[in-house]
Amino acid sequence: MLINKMHLKFFRNHIDFDIKFSPGINVIWGKNGVGKTSILEAVYILSIGKSFKTNKSREIINNQSKSLSVDGFFYDNENDLRISFQQFLGKNKIFKINGVKEVSKNIIGRFPVVLLSPEEEKTTKGQPSDRRKFFDKLFSLLSKDYFIELIKYNSILKNRNNLLKLSSSYEVILPWDIQLSRYGVDLWKKKLVYNQIFSDILDSVSNKYNNNTTISFTTNSQNMNEEEFINILKKTFQKDLTTKRTNFGPHRDVYSFLLNGKDLKVFGSQGEHKLAFSLIKFAEYQTIKQETNKSPTILLDDLFARLDSDKSANILKLLEDNTQTIITNTDLTDIKNRGINTNLPSNKDFYLEKIWKN
Ligand SMILES: Nc1ncnc2c1ncn2[C@@H]1O[C@H](COP(=O)(O)OP(=O)(O)O)[C@@H](O)[C@H]1O
Ligand SMILES: [Mg+2]
Repeated sequence: MLINKMHLKFFRNHIDFDIKFSPGINVIWGKNGVGKTSILEAVYILSIGKSFKTNKSREIINNQSKSLSVDGFFYDNENDLRISFQQFLGKNKIFKINGVKEVSKNIIGRFPVVLLSPEEEKTTKGQPSDRRKFFDKLFSLLSKDYFIELIKYNSILKNRNNLLKLSSSYEVILPWDIQLSRYGVDLWKKKLVYNQIFSDILDSVSNKYNNNTTISFTTNSQNMNEEEFINILKKTFQKDLTTKRTNFGPHRDVYSFLLNGKDLKVFGSQGEHKLAFSLIKFAEYQTIKQETNKSPTILLDDLFARLDSDKSANILKLLEDNTQTIITNTDLTDIKNRGINTNLPSNKDFYLEKIWKN
């Protein structure tokens, strides 16, 4: 699924803005603050159902307006698709597919994207929860069942945690443990499968890039049955009461990325983080492509801030020629010097200028 064009109304600084994309590499360039990242943000919302920068509607709605709309037109070999997003100040998001209202959880996966942005760099640099989110998002894209189970699990978890604050009786908590174990066991089963798939792809991606570099990861998903899960919850119940939260389950999974066997978070240099980040993102792209048969569109915010300058060209070469990519950068010459030819028929560049209003 490729994005063909998009219309923004009162989305951040874009009052009434049209953009048409090419199926290859699209470079959006211009000075800081002209709204390049905002364009990627809008595309991302059409893919994932939420922004990568904020959950607050007032931040993305233009400050002269009370509502915004984003309209995206997509196509593949068989279909045309229109995904629209509308939001009024303080209200819920409204999504439509081909003009028909749709809940946001049915948006994810129609038009997959892989995002390389400062926010996403938390995947290697941030907390364990940032890595968990990376994997949860990826697996949700691969499997709608995973996504739905994750939502259910999180809602049961929230109820259980609330109850831990109100009651110290195990009998009161037990019904929640039974429910939590049902989804917990299943999430772990799925995670074990998807972890393996991602791990194999990460391995082949780092081999393809450079024989001397291996990126891998460790995690602690476990294979167990519901009874075992409930028993461990029972054992950790006293601790849960003290901490007022649930200390056991997939929501506590710790993922660590390793570069040549060493924990990246602990030992990684800036350059190693960038390299690992590129390879992880490329593996994410490959995993989505392999498992869903859809080629994700790559969103690359501030290209050379994200990728190691001398190695970025190599990373881009890993992408196949027919991958739709939207790159933002302050400069076009820089991009051309790195071997990206925006004059090819399948590529395109856009110069974005600030519209000054009196
Ligand atoms: N809700 C909003 N209303 C109006 N302008 C906004 C809003 N949110 C952000 N902006 C402005 O829009 C511009 C968008 O910036 P951004 O997309 O990050 O630009 P770039 O990536 O080109 O540097 C900034 O100048 C910012 O001040
Ligand atoms: Mg930007």
